[in-house]
Amino acid sequence: MKIAIIGANGQLGFDLIRVFKDSEHEIVPLTHVDIDVIDPDSSRKIFEKIQPEIVINCAAYVRVDDAEDGPEKAFAVNALGARNIALICKDMDTILVYISTDYVFDGRKTQPYTEDDIPDPLGVYGVSKLAGEYFVKNIVENHYIIRSSSLFGIAGASGKGGNFVEAMIKKARNNEEIKVVDDMIMSPTYTRDAADMIRKILEKKLPSGVYHVANAGQCSWYEFAEAIFNILKMEINISPIKTYNLQSKARRPMFSPLISMKLNNHGLELESWEAALRNYLIEKEYL
Ligand SMILES: NC(=O)c1ccc[n+]([C@@H]2O[C@H](COP(=O)([O-])OP(=O)(O)OC[C@H]3O[C@@H](n4cnc5c(N)ncnc54)[C@H](OP(=O)(O)O)[C@@H]3O)[C@@H](O)[C@H]2O)c1
Repeated sequence: MKIAIIGANGQLGFDLIRVFKDSEHEIVPLTHVDIDVIDPDSSRKIFEKIQPEIVINCAAYVRVDDAEDGPEKAFAVNALGARNIALICKDMDTILVYISTDYVFDGRKTQPYTEDDIPDPLGVYGVSKLAGEYFVKNIVENHYIIRSSSLFGIAGASGKGGNFVEAMIKKARNNEEIKVVDDMIMSPTYTRDAADMIRKILEKKLPSGVYHVANAGQCSWYEFAEAIFNILKMEINISPIKTYNLQSKARRPMFSPLISMKLNNHGLELESWEAALRNYLIEKEYL
């Protein structure tokens, strides 16, 4: 299959290219320099030239706090940009994969969110991603909406300037005081594992729809930081703090682990976040 990946040098895009590289598929990486999803006409010309059979849209505006002050940018990329790509895929009869987020949920649950739970985002970023989901779902019959969570990957989130694991290690090496919230619970997810699962979903031709793709298990950001230093055998003092201490602009779900009964029913499961973290640290040659 010919697969175009938008957002190719982003954190997830980078690993999607890696997991598809050794396959029989032909991969066409598209960075922000190659395509701007905000522009429908130039995007259409690009796809008419490439003629992909599958498009994976990882392009996103991911600055959650900035989105509160500048919703136009978040909606332009995450919602209207997603719509632009969806309309092209519809006309070209192309399978569309849209990457979404745990931030479509309000975090009021006490058990991990399944694909059947009703989204109710708290902030502009989550609303814009949910709008993107709705456009994709309603425009392209052959679609996959992949919700993931708290990504860490080799490339680091280009939209955020790195990832949490690297930020923690850097602070520790600089002997900075480390304070991490212990009241926000999520499923940390290694982009390599998420990319690998997306490949399986496509290759197994699972039915269209929403899929939750996150490493198994859950933890607070504080526990995640502790795990990083434990695996690295670094004796670092971390102070637990509460989310309200951060005074962030955007409200975030306090509990957003994701689980997928749909993937489990197909015998598919991602490894635990602890195993994924260890694999990441090995790959980065910290271990
Ligand atoms: N990061 C997380 O923790 C997280 C959690 C759950 C879900 N997600 C979702 O996962 C997906 C991938 O996230 P990520 O962490 O890989 O983010 P990322 O590293 O910031 O990647 C996003 C990519 O989109 C590109 N992009 C931005 N605006 C664009 C535009 N108008 N046209 C074309 N490309 C554009 C960026 O390029 P430039 O940087 O060059 O602008 C970047 O390469 C996103 O859909 C995000 O919403 C992320």
